Amino acid sequence: MEFLKQYSPDAASMMKCYRIINRKVYFSLRVLDMYAYRLKCIQNYNSTKSRSEKRQKINFSSADRNKTAILEVLENFFDKSIEGKVLEISSGTGQHSAYFAPHFPKLTFYTSEYEESLMDSIRAYAADTPTKNVKEPVLINVIDDWTKWNVPNDFDYAININMIHVTPFPCSIGLFKNVSSILKIGGLLITYGAYANNGVLEPESNRDFDRSIRKRDPNCGVRDIQDLIKVSETYGISLKHIQEMPANNKCIIWQKTNVFK
Ligand SMILES: C[S@@+](CC[C@H](N)C(=O)[O-])C[C@H]1O[C@@H](n2cnc3c(N)ncnc32)[C@H](O)[C@@H]1O
Repeated sequence: MEFLKQYSPDAASMMKCYRIINRKVYFSLRVLDMYAYRLKCIQNYNSTKSRSEKRQKINFSSADRNKTAILEVLENFFDKSIEGKVLEISSGTGQHSAYFAPHFPKLTFYTSEYEESLMDSIRAYAADTPTKNVKEPVLINVIDDWTKWNVPNDFDYAININMIHVTPFPCSIGLFKNVSSILKIGGLLITYGAYANNGVLEPESNRDFDRSIRKRDPNCGVRDIQDLIKVSETYGISLKHIQEMPANNKCIIWQKTNVFK
């Protein structure tokens, strides 16, 4: 920037404007996603109240934006040759599992949600999956002990997308504790979202995002990977890989390495 300023003050100020706009766009998209999610939950709750038998697919634009990049990560870490099981925790609308499942026809995708109002959408996506390997959703509160989850305890993989930063920290603890009980030894947990690392949250758009989450609920916010590692290791889960993703997100691959009872 200093170099540009010296030779072309116009180019330097254009560059500055570009960075500011870029940051504001990222931040606005994230905040819009949060509000769209809340609105869709309310709309769907009202519509399922009046037409309870109708199954309605909801669309989260954020899920459409990130699903292809997340699939690439799954392609690198999931074994396509095994007849295994995947548990998605907080499936949202059901878009992700329904999109991933046809790429792994031998794996069975178990879906779940905490919000009852999203269940019909998950069912609708699952029913339309051509490979028929997405199961109907179960209600899961990640804080509840896994024995209340109504799922088996021999999963090969678990996925959790965009939940950690929008929930209080006990939800992250519940995630690692319970996932450790339902994963086989060697099984993987893949989490996706915005994360800080060693106290550093980059770039500015993620710091804005974090501030906006905490303003709504001071118990929620972007988590530091080092804090998550402390929790995961308590429950026999180790950090395996951090994958940088588009739009300043990360996919974190965790592996169950020890028995936890
Ligand atoms: C931002 S949405 C992400 C949904 C979906 N995974 C996606 O990426 O489109 C956050 C999700 O966390 C879920 N959630 C909130 N509290 C939860 C809890 N205590 N247990 C499990 N899921 C929870 C919400 O119901 C919601 O589906």
